[in-house]
Amino acid sequence: MTDLGGKIVYQIYPKSFRDSDGDGQGDLPGVIEKLDYLQGLGVDYLWLTPVFPSPQNDNGYDVADYCAIDPGFGTMEDMERLIAESGKRGLKVMLDMVFNHTSTDHEWFRKALAGEKEYQDYYIFRDGTPDQLPANWQSKFGGPAWEYVPALGKWYLHLYDVTQADLNWENPRVREELKNVIRFWKEKGVKGFRFDVVNLISKPEVFTDDMEGDGRRFYTDGPHIHEYLKELVGDTGIGEFMTVGEMSSTHIEDCIRYSNPEERELSMCFNFHHLKVDYKNGDKWSLMEPDRMELKRLFEEWQTGMQEAHGWNALFWCNHDQPRIVSRLGDEGQHWKQSAKMLGACIHLMQGTPYIYQGEELGMTNPHFQDIGQYKDVESLNYYGILLEQGKTKEEALKILAARSRDNSRTPMQWSGEAGCGFTDGTPWIETAGNYREINVQAQMADGDSVYHFYRRLIELRKEKSVISRGSIDFLMQENPDVLAYRRKYQDEELVVLNNLTGKEITVPTEVVWCGYEKILGNYEDSCVKNGTVSLRPFEVLVLEKRR
Ligand code: NOJ
Repeated sequence: MTDLGGKIVYQIYPKSFRDSDGDGQGDLPGVIEKLDYLQGLGVDYLWLTPVFPSPQNDNGYDVADYCAIDPGFGTMEDMERLIAESGKRGLKVMLDMVFNHTSTDHEWFRKALAGEKEYQDYYIFRDGTPDQLPANWQSKFGGPAWEYVPALGKWYLHLYDVTQADLNWENPRVREELKNVIRFWKEKGVKGFRFDVVNLISKPEVFTDDMEGDGRRFYTDGPHIHEYLKELVGDTGIGEFMTVGEMSSTHIEDCIRYSNPEERELSMCFNFHHLKVDYKNGDKWSLMEPDRMELKRLFEEWQTGMQEAHGWNALFWCNHDQPRIVSRLGDEGQHWKQSAKMLGACIHLMQGTPYIYQGEELGMTNPHFQDIGQYKDVESLNYYGILLEQGKTKEEALKILAARSRDNSRTPMQWSGEAGCGFTDGTPWIETAGNYREINVQAQMADGDSVYHFYRRLIELRKEKSVISRGSIDFLMQENPDVLAYRRKYQDEELVVLNNLTGKEITVPTEVVWCGYEKILGNYEDSCVKNGTVSLRPFEVLVLEKRR
């Protein structure tokens, strides 16, 4: 796809976006109601997380039918109307293809359980006895990755929940079925696809115990992954579509291949390494302060590494699996607004395609749930149990969830300061963050200095300036843990972006001061660029353009 750098994707988690019928759960007519808002923000693509029929054990990532709409979200007519109404506003719809696994409620799995050999070969079944797991791999949601089916005398693989059975991509019939899903949605006018954990689809031929880890090294960026992607994209003719692969624990060498246009695989990749810099020893459930040097190192590695080899990054901080970035790397108190703006600029001005997750453009925060009864997410509930088993107290376990739970990002979109925050007239399926009276769309649209207006400006700038959408990137001040600084260049255009990652004032040394540059964007009114030094106030971002 051309002009990838000129596009912005907005991620909608429909369940929490806008509820049109008062049942407490967001729906497709609710998304349609808000299309004018999205057009006004200036984005190009709308990525909807799964709205297909599903038992909702993993909020729709457990798909029971890829070519229909879950009644909780609406009807196929609603989806068709959404695509058409989006089109009228210059917005394109992207759907989420969960092709690593299906729900165990899917017709294919039911037939497999009923003993149909043909469908057993759609999944990864292994003969065995109840006491002998095929391998010691762990599910990403905790516990073993295998489930025994006594009636069949077989185990099946589930890298996620026990109700999410992994598909067997080695079977050409499975690959054909999935291509038909793409063709179906293409026919409906969908213009892009996000592929869920797609780098896990190719499993090894032989399953062996992992003595060093949870098994991921055997199936991450697996043996036939590039072949499978080329086939899927080539045979369905989506090479010119916007396609993004969610790459779990991936390697840069593979992401280069996934996203280099010559390889004809995908447009771009999500990788998550920069979102693990506050995991102690790589463990999501062990808290530590973010390691800013590591964050800087990872950005540099992925930005320059992908650039050199013509790969392409999806730029993001937030999604439906990640805690809110302001709560994580910014400041929820005094410097809330500055930190939300700085974090936005930091990502949006890099090389790649930026993604905005609903509410990020308002600086939404984590909700700070205090009771296990407030959590809904399967992973959070499982890990709460695991943490208690490990000997943590309830308070300790709740503190970890409050920082790490996926529910942090799944609270209702804050449209207004009224009861129900403009999300619903009923009782929301998950509690709203308490600060919706202050942080909401209505208030921010009316305030020219809001986070919302800052995001609009970031989007406009990307569309105005080729140096942002197409420029090269190199990193500055690599040794300074407090500042993430980079330079973008395109023909005779040049930008320098300085992000103070901390809540303290810092002064940048004289040798990196730019005379002949002017400020084009910042999150403080004035700026302190003086002869010889630049002072950056808490969470300040300064975007300087070279005068021509
Ligand atoms: C990644 C999705 O983003 C997440 O929400 C889901 O639980 C897993 N893949 C499994 O589909």
